Amino acid sequence: TTQKVGYFVGSLATASINRTLSKALLRVAPANMEFTEIPIGNLPLYSYDYDADFPPEGRALKEAIASVDAVLFVTPEYNRSIPGALKNAIDWASRPWGQNSFARKPSAVIGASPGAIGTAVGQQSLKQVLAFCNSPLMNAVEAYIQFRPDVFSDSGEVSDPETEAFLRTFMQEFHEFITRVLTVLPPDEL
Ligand code: FNR
Repeated sequence: TTQKVGYFVGSLATASINRTLSKALLRVAPANMEFTEIPIGNLPLYSYDYDADFPPEGRALKEAIASVDAVLFVTPEYNRSIPGALKNAIDWASRPWGQNSFARKPSAVIGASPGAIGTAVGQQSLKQVLAFCNSPLMNAVEAYIQFRPDVFSDSGEVSDPETEAFLRTFMQEFHEFITRVLTVLPPDEL
């Protein structure tokens, strides 16, 4: 059966290299994975004042996560952590208390930066947050992508075969991880 995956791009920049990476990942993913982007740029800054009455953007976010089997985070590292916009979206989705959208929702994390450690520190930070949010997180394969503009076209074509094969392996592993998690935690039995 087809797996539904919602993906977050952690950057709001129009020329985001992580958006480019997300396009590359969709190109090489197994055919039975179906992707929808979950937008984060339209959300107000979260406060628990909203808990009593979530605005449409907050509701849409939680519904988008509820409607997928798993979530994928494709995010830059900002100041050795994750971008504020992404943290804001996670805070929104984790609330109101008792209605955490990430609970038991499988996830994976990947990111690109121009630097050689390719978002490794930011991902560590994100993984801590997702662990607290009770999301079963894929631990391997890890993917720290040093972004080279000569390797990725704007539409996500990857000219370096080794890089493309690695991204393909990452998505195949994620597919298998989701299958394993859903076997143990079938959504209709939660
Ligand atoms: C960065 N950048 C960056 N890179 C990195 O490898 N580690 C870091 O901690 C940071 N910190 C950081 C903070 C802020 C506020 C900005 C704007 C940038 C550089 C970053 O990797 C680069 O701008 C990428 O292009 C960001 O990815 P997107 O937004 O293009 O997807």
